Amino acid sequence: MPVCRVPILTDSRFAVAMNYRHAFHAGNFADVFKHAILLELLDALTAKAKPLCYFDTHAARGRYALDEVEAGRTGEWREGIGRLFNAPSTPAPLQRYVAAIHACNPDGSLRTYPGSPLLAANALRANDRLILCESQPDEAAALRRLLRNDSRAHVHTRDGYAALHALLPPTEHRGLVLIDPPFETQDNDFAAIEAALAQAHARWPSGVYAVWYPIKSHRTLAPFHRHFAQGPFDRALVAELLVYPDDSPLRLNGCGMLIANPPWKVDVALANLLPALQQALVRSPAAAQRLHWLRGD
Ligand SMILES: C[S@@+](CC[C@H](N)C(=O)[O-])C[C@H]1O[C@@H](n2cnc3c(N)ncnc32)[C@H](O)[C@@H]1O
Repeated sequence: MPVCRVPILTDSRFAVAMNYRHAFHAGNFADVFKHAILLELLDALTAKAKPLCYFDTHAARGRYALDEVEAGRTGEWREGIGRLFNAPSTPAPLQRYVAAIHACNPDGSLRTYPGSPLLAANALRANDRLILCESQPDEAAALRRLLRNDSRAHVHTRDGYAALHALLPPTEHRGLVLIDPPFETQDNDFAAIEAALAQAHARWPSGVYAVWYPIKSHRTLAPFHRHFAQGPFDRALVAELLVYPDDSPLRLNGCGMLIANPPWKVDVALANLLPALQQALVRSPAAAQRLHWLRGD
């Protein structure tokens, strides 16, 4: 049976989901994990003055209303950003991320959750650039509307992997590629990522690449990790968070981010961030996090 990355109705079992819509999952624990790491990467890259390019291969619509029917149907955000937004205190490593979500909800009431393109647009500087790819035309149109007044942002309604091949290297020669596919057909997505990153490395070996992936069981991830342990990048770091034990192949137990060419000291920042994420998002006593180098350092 094909599996989707997160089910439409509940995250306790997987369902076939054609036409994945991120609105059902916006702000869930996987988004919190992904977006907190994304901000660490962008902050590390913007520490240097030179302009950079942010390239989102799977951008989706960029902003979600948590009181609309999709997010309301699953309620996944309640176990993600819902646990952090109004918490009486925020652990130091999560303050940057929580402040970014507050900036999108200036009246202090959690109604809006920003997607990766909006978080990146807010974190980047006037001379940086965003290339945002989304294959579903209505999602891409919504993203274009959202960023219509932002001349740094270029929205492409196209396949993100093909765009990588066509548009790398960026003229800035510095930057970050986020690869965040829906994982509707899991094996195909891992194979597509490996192929895309082989081509991307050939065109732009010094780029920073961050790949989000779901964890059902670690056993099934071993070939993906082995692949990047052998190259093509000289340095590859993996951050993972399990909110459930990884003993049920039918549930999204956790997620990971593979980072090729991580910026300087990001491993130190993530070593502080991951325990704070685990503490905030735990759903089982068997929750766990880990950070390890697949290659380099
Ligand atoms: C997980 S969502 C992205 C969420 C977004 N990165 C964020 O963090 O806010 C995946 C998106 O990829 C889109 N998509 C699926 N296959 C694609 C492809 N080959 N190229 C570009 N977009 C694709 C889906 O329509 C969906 O909107």
